[in-house]
Amino acid sequence: MKKKLIIATGNKGKVREIAAILSHIYEDVISMKEAGICVNIVEDADSFIGNARKKALTISALTDCDVVADDSGLCVNGLGGRPGVYSARYSATGTDDDNNKKLVEEVMPLNEEGRKANYVCAIVLARKGVEVFSCEGKCYGKIITKPRGNGGFGYDPYFYLEEYHQTFGEMEAELKNKISHRAIALQKLKDFIEEEQ
Ligand code: IMP
Repeated sequence: MKKKLIIATGNKGKVREIAAILSHIYEDVISMKEAGICVNIVEDADSFIGNARKKALTISALTDCDVVADDSGLCVNGLGGRPGVYSARYSATGTDDDNNKKLVEEVMPLNEEGRKANYVCAIVLARKGVEVFSCEGKCYGKIITKPRGNGGFGYDPYFYLEEYHQTFGEMEAELKNKISHRAIALQKLKDFIEEEQ
């Protein structure tokens, strides 16, 4: 069994989600804070992979442990892929309410095709400052202009999945965690690490 994995994030939900998938491979899956690493990394790359890479390489240069970093967001077809890497800070305040308000205003004039969207999650695994593996997971839907459901977070009440006839805001967390962009990317990471063993 591999020793320790550090998740390069301050987000407890992400650490829990990643730990649930990789805890049978690593003795311990911990956050940066738990590893005693406190670094502020500016996410200024122009791609999801670029931001995930920056975080994974920076943190893994400071430890002997494996390090995983991710970056995610929403891309809308008719908005040229926006909010994209700016998903967390799309509006001036960066709150979910204001981000969603801006998204709806921008999507309103778009036709069905333009409202098609996808969530993206990029993941990078690094060791001692060197990238070992990277991948992306995507999840497809469309943006609706009236919110549905209170579950999930961020843009979820506006992200409608035709196949499931519901938004991520309406979906049971258990199902979202099986089909989401993050779940797809994490599965690829898990497959890679298992093959490496
Ligand atoms: P980050 O990966 O923590 O930087 O998240 C980027 C932003 O993308 C979040 O603040 C949300 O606005 C958006 N986002 C990423 N994944 C999801 C999701 O599963 N649901 C809703 N919003 C998401």
